[in-house]
Amino acid sequence: MAERIGILTGGGDCPGLNAVIRAVVKSATRLGWETIGIQKGFEGLLHPVSCMKLDHREMGALLTSGGTVLGTTNRGRFAAKTGHGEGRSIPVEILDEAKRNCEALGLRALICVGGDGSLSIAQQLFEHGVPVVGVPKTIDNDLEATVVTFGFDSAVACATDALDRLHTTAASHNRVMVLEVMGRYAGWIAAHAGIAGGGDIILIPEIPFSYDSICRKITEREAMGRLFTLVVVAEGARMKDGEFFTQGEAGSDREARLGGIGNAVAAQIAKRTGKETRVVVLGHLQRGGGPTCFDRLLCTRFGSYAVRLVKEGKYGYMVANRPPDTVAVKITEAIGKLRTVPPDGDLVQTARMLGMSFGDD
Ligand code: F6P
Repeated sequence: MAERIGILTGGGDCPGLNAVIRAVVKSATRLGWETIGIQKGFEGLLHPVSCMKLDHREMGALLTSGGTVLGTTNRGRFAAKTGHGEGRSIPVEILDEAKRNCEALGLRALICVGGDGSLSIAQQLFEHGVPVVGVPKTIDNDLEATVVTFGFDSAVACATDALDRLHTTAASHNRVMVLEVMGRYAGWIAAHAGIAGGGDIILIPEIPFSYDSICRKITEREAMGRLFTLVVVAEGARMKDGEFFTQGEAGSDREARLGGIGNAVAAQIAKRTGKETRVVVLGHLQRGGGPTCFDRLLCTRFGSYAVRLVKEGKYGYMVANRPPDTVAVKITEAIGKLRTVPPDGDLVQTARMLGMSFGDD
């Protein structure tokens, strides 16, 4: 019987998951291995086990398609985070069962594709004796151990496109347009899209804002004859000492659902400046659709490198992007350490030099 490896996708979906699956299956096939796809994230490892054999001849369309053909979940029995990013240990009986089922499937190794939460589950499985290799994904780009995660570039492209569209309608009506984008603890999407899309005010979790500062910027622009303003706000942005805006309560098996900051900011701007203000919450549009060329390449490199790590028996490691290379780092180096936007870094300084405001001056 051919050697077998398993692959699963965990946590929120993002563009490029299918491209990773394709790269893993094609690379494994060349080594003479079979690939078994575990469905619905880690849940598929529990009774009744849910999995499918992945055929390399059926991988063609996966390079460009969005979502994940394996399905995924960011809650349930394997939830690794609750509240606002608090870690949770997976009960030992759940780890036991997952390990038993990996063995029953005859898996030489399990490739786990996911963000901070999924990688921390992968690490717990590894410590429990399951040979795992990680592949980092998240549109938020907030994993410390890799310079970039896949899904991020596609999300930025979506947010920049939205900003381009808002630009023309804002200018036509002399309005303030507020675009709320994803980014729980890190403002990479807001900062990148804000700069790439020529935004005027960028609000990110790393830099607490004040309404006085935001409205001052709008008034200054008016005085210069710039009668419209584009505001990009990350869902996790907050005022100094302010709370997160949430739409859904945290549970014992899930994190709180963020959202609402865009409307709050718009209401204050309208009230304080008298400007007509509109809000767009981009939401899951940023996670849907196919990956950009950059993400397709990154996913292909990540997927094939993960198979190399399995071949070398480098378990407990995940692939990471350290330009110009793909490298292996211990999963323990990657989890629980957020990569946030440096408030004094080049990105923020570039934006400030161009006259953009972070709502803090
Ligand atoms: O972690 C990725 C992410 O897209 C965050 O930016 C966002 O807060 C969250 O997932 C949304 O999760 P859900 O799909 O459960 O609403």
